[in-house]
Amino acid sequence: MRVIACENAHQLGDVASELILDLFVQNPEAACCLPTGSTPIPVYQALVEKIRTSDIKLNELKFFNLDEYVGLGVHHNQSYAYFLFEHLFSQINVDSSQITLLNGLAADLDVECTRYNQLIDAIGNFDFVMDGIGVNGHIAFNEPAEFFIPRTHISAIAPSTIEANKRFFAQDETVPDQALTIGLEDIMKAKRFVLIATGANKKAVIERFFNEPEITTQFPMSFLRMHPNFTMILDKEACGSRYDYFRNHVGEIK
Ligand code: PGA
Repeated sequence: MRVIACENAHQLGDVASELILDLFVQNPEAACCLPTGSTPIPVYQALVEKIRTSDIKLNELKFFNLDEYVGLGVHHNQSYAYFLFEHLFSQINVDSSQITLLNGLAADLDVECTRYNQLIDAIGNFDFVMDGIGVNGHIAFNEPAEFFIPRTHISAIAPSTIEANKRFFAQDETVPDQALTIGLEDIMKAKRFVLIATGANKKAVIERFFNEPEITTQFPMSFLRMHPNFTMILDKEACGSRYDYFRNHVGEIK
């Protein structure tokens, strides 16, 4: 695992976007699975800026989303599809044929999960997956549980996640309690996995990851220990007391 410690969220956006741009150059046909939430916003801002000032070709890239709320469609401003269009797809030169999204409004959600798995199978494994981290250690909407469903599935959103996500919704709106999410199998098979975390409210979950060596479904993030190509990009606040250590150990961290 590699940890890159940044001074702040702005620098994290710069570092993570550089890494993504490098990937696009190395593999112009890369299949990328991308996150939503507050953490990736500076990453997409920096990425859009860098793409605009470069002559990089994007037309062979493929984009997927990690997860989606059940009951919210692409036109709902809190859907993850809406988010990705707003912050990324509408800002860069990509065609809709390059974008594959989970449909939270699908009439049959099991069929929708199967459809998504088949589309993932058609590209092989993801070349690149980026994700934020939930305060409870969830990865995408793989919440702490007694067992994991390995592929794309319907997930019951944990009460702590619903609480954390209330900030995005209007007062009279209810946060959905179910989501569609890719599973841990596709995350673990991704050729590269990058986790981003910023802010003091992520300090405890990052500390837990380093303090508790056990791998358990009750703490989904712990599975990332086994990922062969795992990079964490953290800001100073999320690093907590390990900030200086991470700054001084830029290579592999056990
Ligand atoms: P956030 O969400 O980036 O909005 O903090 C991260 C997550 O819940 O995975």
